[in-house]
Amino acid sequence: MRIVTFLVLCLFLLAACSQHAEPTPTPLTPAQAEGKRLFGASPGNCATCHSLEPDVRIIGPSLAGIASLAASRMEGVSAQEYLEMSILRPGLYVVEDYPDAMPVNIAKQLTSPQLTSLVEFLLTLK
Ligand code: HEC
Repeated sequence: MRIVTFLVLCLFLLAACSQHAEPTPTPLTPAQAEGKRLFGASPGNCATCHSLEPDVRIIGPSLAGIASLAASRMEGVSAQEYLEMSILRPGLYVVEDYPDAMPVNIAKQLTSPQLTSLVEFLLTLK
């Protein structure tokens, strides 16, 4: 009977340990958190056209994994530069299979710190 109790205890310990082994997501910095908020809010309303779920097409492409993709979009252009440019001058690079439909006036409505926060948030979407 004791061995059973011991085994049950071992199982409990194992379960407890494996729960701890799960990776916890890195908490967002204040700027990244602000960018995340802005993504779904006025004036940008990015979320009306962009999903953060992979392969979900709204009007624009899903932005899941955009941090990695952005680095390879244009030769000699870093991920950060590409993302800033995507918001400031969306027509400079139009994603294949999508209309040049991203509003150009969004950038004028965002303050410079808001733009920075949005880009910082997008850079977390690896
Ligand atoms: C009215 C719809 C609409 C809104 C609102 C919108 N976008 Fe877009 N966006 C698009 C479309 C369509 C494309 C694809 C065509 C292109 O590349 O311009 C795109 C492309 C992009 C890309 C390039 C993606 C890639 O795979 O290279 C980024 C980054 C992006 N948008 C970010 C944003 C952010 C950030 C906001 C909010 C500030 C936003 N968009 C708001 C429609 C929108």
